[in-house]
Amino acid sequence: MAPSIRIRKPWEIPGLRPTPEAAFLDRRKFLVRMGRTGVGIAGAGLIPGVAGAILGGCAQPPGAEDDPKPLPLRPIDATRNPQFKLDRPLTPEAVAANYNNFWEFSEIKERVAGLARNFRSRPWTVEVAGKVGKPQTFDLDDLLRLMPIEERLYRFRCVEAWAMAVPWVGFPLKALLDRVEPLSSAKFVRMVSFHDPKQAPNQRPPTHYPWPYFEGLTMEEAVNPLTLMVNGIYGHDLPPQHGAPLRLIVPWKYGFKSIKSVVRIELTQKRPPTFWNELSPREYDFWANVEPEVPHPRWSQASERMIDTGERRPTLKYNGYADLVAHLYPA
Ligand code: MTE
Repeated sequence: MAPSIRIRKPWEIPGLRPTPEAAFLDRRKFLVRMGRTGVGIAGAGLIPGVAGAILGGCAQPPGAEDDPKPLPLRPIDATRNPQFKLDRPLTPEAVAANYNNFWEFSEIKERVAGLARNFRSRPWTVEVAGKVGKPQTFDLDDLLRLMPIEERLYRFRCVEAWAMAVPWVGFPLKALLDRVEPLSSAKFVRMVSFHDPKQAPNQRPPTHYPWPYFEGLTMEEAVNPLTLMVNGIYGHDLPPQHGAPLRLIVPWKYGFKSIKSVVRIELTQKRPPTFWNELSPREYDFWANVEPEVPHPRWSQASERMIDTGERRPTLKYNGYADLVAHLYPA
């Protein structure tokens, strides 16, 4: 039951500017929708230069839960695709790897890496199903051997108005979809993350979220050459906090579309619901394209802050990828 007297949060008090990194949700709406109370949601402000262990580590083998030593991340020898050039320096790895949104583990960005470090990301399978001619469940390592793996330098923009630039390693989602032969009735792609409360503390009951995390794209967006399935970063396996062992990256959209730790990909005829849109539709729409002139209800999107230097830069339409994606959204 909601308390009758509520202490307002800083971002609700007129005259106080919302901190973009602060909480996401329209709390009252969220509580009504979920029929529960006590959602503790607080993003943490960045301490520039924050560093720490990058090693989230690979999976512990089954039965090795007592072994506190994470396995090292394996190097990946992928050729860099020269088509994707950056207009800003790469974000240092130690900063990107210690400032993460991965709500299954924590709502506090600086805590995710530590809480996720023993996440078991092998063995891992990815099921591809729905409106396809050849539904298949791939063992991830078998799939990676089939895919055209390359490195790409991409800008990354969170809806909270922070940004980074990182070297992802992965393959175009289209290469995977081609393998399963999409039917003409396939209009959307739905993706689902893992669900394992034993490993992910925030998935444990009582939880206020509709786990597992789910996202979606149109088929046109999914087969766009920019849309990447990512298994590596900075020349090695993805560490758990970045979404090991396989995640989506759609760099012209706000970061919440880039779902981590994907276990299922389903082609659908109808537009699928998406996690944050279900929780707070006014704030997080299905499209979530980076648009500087469209403010978030609680803050401007006109500029962004680099997480390493704190530098403010003007937000670029479609995060600077308009030449590759603007045609998807005719006015
Ligand atoms: N995927 C899952 N499964 N769970 C999450 O909480 N957070 C999203 C996205 N993918 C999220 C997720 C958000 S809000 C952002 S900004 C990016 O992951 C952050 O990616 P990074 O931690 O690798 O920078």
